Amino acid sequence: MKFDNRVTAMLGVELPIVQAPMGWIARSQLASAVSNAGGMGIIETSSGELDVIKEEIRKMRDLTDKPFGVNIAQAFVRDPNIAQFVIDEGVTFVTTSAGSPTRYTAQLKSAGLTVFHVVPTLRAALKAVEAGVDGLIVEGGEGGGFKNPNEVASMVLLPLVRSRVDVPIIAAGGFVDGASMAAAFALGAEGIQMGTRMVSAAESPVHENWKQAVVDAAETDTVFLNRFHSPALRALRTNRTSELEKRIDENIMGQFGRARDLYFGGDMEAAVALSGQVCGRIDEVKPVATILGEIHEEFFRTIASLAEKYPA
Ligand SMILES: Cc1cc2nc3c(=O)[nH]c(=O)nc-3n(C[C@H](O)[C@H](O)[C@H](O)COP(=O)(O)O)c2cc1C
Repeated sequence: MKFDNRVTAMLGVELPIVQAPMGWIARSQLASAVSNAGGMGIIETSSGELDVIKEEIRKMRDLTDKPFGVNIAQAFVRDPNIAQFVIDEGVTFVTTSAGSPTRYTAQLKSAGLTVFHVVPTLRAALKAVEAGVDGLIVEGGEGGGFKNPNEVASMVLLPLVRSRVDVPIIAAGGFVDGASMAAAFALGAEGIQMGTRMVSAAESPVHENWKQAVVDAAETDTVFLNRFHSPALRALRTNRTSELEKRIDENIMGQFGRARDLYFGGDMEAAVALSGQVCGRIDEVKPVATILGEIHEEFFRTIASLAEKYPA
């Protein structure tokens, strides 16, 4: 059973499943595993470490002959030449996020790249389409990472955006298996992007403590921080983030902490472990190929069983 839609055609992938960009995490080890399993591996630039990223892109060419992309998280990578950097690296698929779609879309598209912009609201979606993007990544507030302070769940946002735009949509926020992917498709998506599932995959470079914390977490174990400032963020509940949750008068971005000590040293209180509510549905660390294979199989099983139960 094959996926054959606008997202597989535009991205040149077998599975319309995108691995989320994640600072320091979305590098060649994880991204090549996703691309080799038939999905779309993405290299991050939000770390701002462009020399390292250049090397990671080079490694991708050794590790896979399948398509991969790069994310430009505009608020986090300050280099004004970032779009040209991505073009010069010969990348063909880019997701832009955390910034205005008018900033780089024309430049990237005139160089022949396919551009999907991440949007958390209908208004942002309309603006991105107006700016000429090829598609949207529609991100619900249940997802992990930096968020619009006025968060809207995927269940509301996806069909709303679908009803007002024609471009292909990749759904992000809450997707983890074939059933949730089928739900996204019922709401108008033609692909999914996963962050929390990928941070806890076997090939993810983060410390085992973070992966285990995702496995142990209940669906209620995330906090939504910085709600009254910007950017807001969703992260795993720890002593540190429970305390930050109460600081509603202060922009807590300065309290993010020592990310490397958490990400790679495993000290879960050293910083903020970005994660989505879907952590409550992840109960095992698995290799990327197993995750994608199971999603593929369960997606078609889900839609077949619905068609059988509810024949038209
Ligand atoms: C650890 C982590 C880091 C993230 N960093 C980025 C980033 O650099 N750029 C970006 O566009 N999104 C980032 N995100 C958001 C993801 O791209 C994705 O849309 C989100 O995780 C989807 O929701 P899910 O966690 O329910 O899968 C991050 C998410 C996580 C969990």
